[in-house]
Amino acid sequence: MQDWWRTAVIYQIYPRSFADSNADGIGDLPGITERLGSLRSLGVDAVWLSPVYTSPQADAGYDVADYCDIDPIFGTLDDFDQMVSRAHELGLRVIIDLVPNHTSSAHPWFQAALAAGPGSPERSRYLFADKPTDWLSVFGGSAWTQVPDGQWYLHLYDAAQPDLNWHSADVRQLFEQVLRFWLDREVDGFRVDVAHGLIKDPSFPDFADDPLSPHAKLSAPYWDQDGVHEIYRSWRAILDSYTAQDRSRPRVLCAEANVPVPRAIRYVRPDEMHQAFNFPYLNTPWSAPALRRVIEESLQQYGSVGAPATWVLSNHDVVRHASRLGYPDYQPTGGIGADDPQPDRELGLRRARAATLLMLALPGSAYLYQGEELGLPESTQMPDDFRQDPNWVRKNYTEKGRDGARVPLPWVSTAMAFGFGGMGGTWLPQPADYESYARDLQEISETSTLQMYITALTRRRELGLGNGELTWESEPGSRVLVFRRGPVRIICNIGGQPWPLPSGTEVLVSSRSEPRSTRHRAVEADECVWLLASPSNG
Ligand code: GLC
Ligand code: CA
Repeated sequence: MQDWWRTAVIYQIYPRSFADSNADGIGDLPGITERLGSLRSLGVDAVWLSPVYTSPQADAGYDVADYCDIDPIFGTLDDFDQMVSRAHELGLRVIIDLVPNHTSSAHPWFQAALAAGPGSPERSRYLFADKPTDWLSVFGGSAWTQVPDGQWYLHLYDAAQPDLNWHSADVRQLFEQVLRFWLDREVDGFRVDVAHGLIKDPSFPDFADDPLSPHAKLSAPYWDQDGVHEIYRSWRAILDSYTAQDRSRPRVLCAEANVPVPRAIRYVRPDEMHQAFNFPYLNTPWSAPALRRVIEESLQQYGSVGAPATWVLSNHDVVRHASRLGYPDYQPTGGIGADDPQPDRELGLRRARAATLLMLALPGSAYLYQGEELGLPESTQMPDDFRQDPNWVRKNYTEKGRDGARVPLPWVSTAMAFGFGGMGGTWLPQPADYESYARDLQEISETSTLQMYITALTRRRELGLGNGELTWESEPGSRVLVFRRGPVRIICNIGGQPWPLPSGTEVLVSSRSEPRSTRHRAVEADECVWLLASPSNG
């Protein structure tokens, strides 16, 4: 389909935790290939894979040592090709992660830079300086590390992730080659990691704020500099040249740019990327006025540049939404540990299901994160010894980090490692109660979260909900969001009084798991329903 990406539901595969084909405890490409059928039956349009490149795995693969090869823990280039061709056979598009802000410190370029010394052309591919600024790493601590000859290099993330110098012609050329390499291998697009970070203010002014603070997102000298946009324009031209060869397969770019909506839309102007992640939506608490505001702003702003809005509730960097929404007031950031306040499971799942139905009713493209279709909660009791996220160490053990959202998936309730792999265990421990979330149990239950996702995705497709207008029917301050999408009326009750169901309407999908027949004709607190409004009832 032309412009498939405008309405696509894109499923994020976190490869090391999806499915393990060779029982070494780590998910891999053959594991993905085997299970792609389950994503076809879920009803998504595309998959996005977190990085599978050659990497020492200092940041779970976001530290790339070779952009044109596959890490042996995930398989081979052949395995990659087989995964892509199986996906295409099933009608699924494949988006891969591109990591251009930094390489691994094991990348041959960084090794050459260390060996060549100050002032060398090898060093000019990175950001070396004689004196560091006061910038902080996103993962905690200084963003600079000193090398034996006395110079310092910049790393906005881990010390094993040196930032590239995007003023270097070598760097630009490398990434153009990398794009072509994977486009030639038939990928449908790229999710661009840290898209707002590639260019730094050339005067390197001091800026000591937390890089993730609202102030930093607007004014840090290393985020969202105007110079990034010409890079994306040049990439767009490359992707368009591939699209021109086969118009049935537009190739796409999606920006991971963690900036407010009015800034994010600059990444999706017509000659730049196709989509940008909607972090403001992800970060919105379970509040009707706040959700309405971000939905209105997103539709208006993205619409103004002719781009689809995107929506997302979970990914591999945040607390899973089934747990995040399980607190009456508290907003967990930086992970949840056994000694933190624990989320209310039931409340979290009820709201997560409602939040998902709300999201899937919005026009534009939606991103799902593996496991959310099972209602999977965060692992909140993981023993600290297992933690692998560099945040844990770099933030002096004050933040648990992101491992709780990255635990291997439960497929089969009665199998070893819940069907994730064989005897090899799992690279992060699976909580015992993941058994009750296993996919096989949910396949045979009519009221499971998996069935709700399947029904919603089927209806979304049949009714064309990814396209078209949204018309509000509730008042701006209401705790119940009511809006119309073509023939469908959506009612999402965010902690309000039960809301009577309009008479003569058919409930297409509900986020509640109890059979509706046993309840009042009302939309309860923390429930979302899609109704088919009969014209006479309009
Ligand atoms: C992005 C990724 C995250 C990674 C970071 C550095 O935010 O989503 O997982 O740690 O970039 O590459
Ligand atoms: Ca494996």
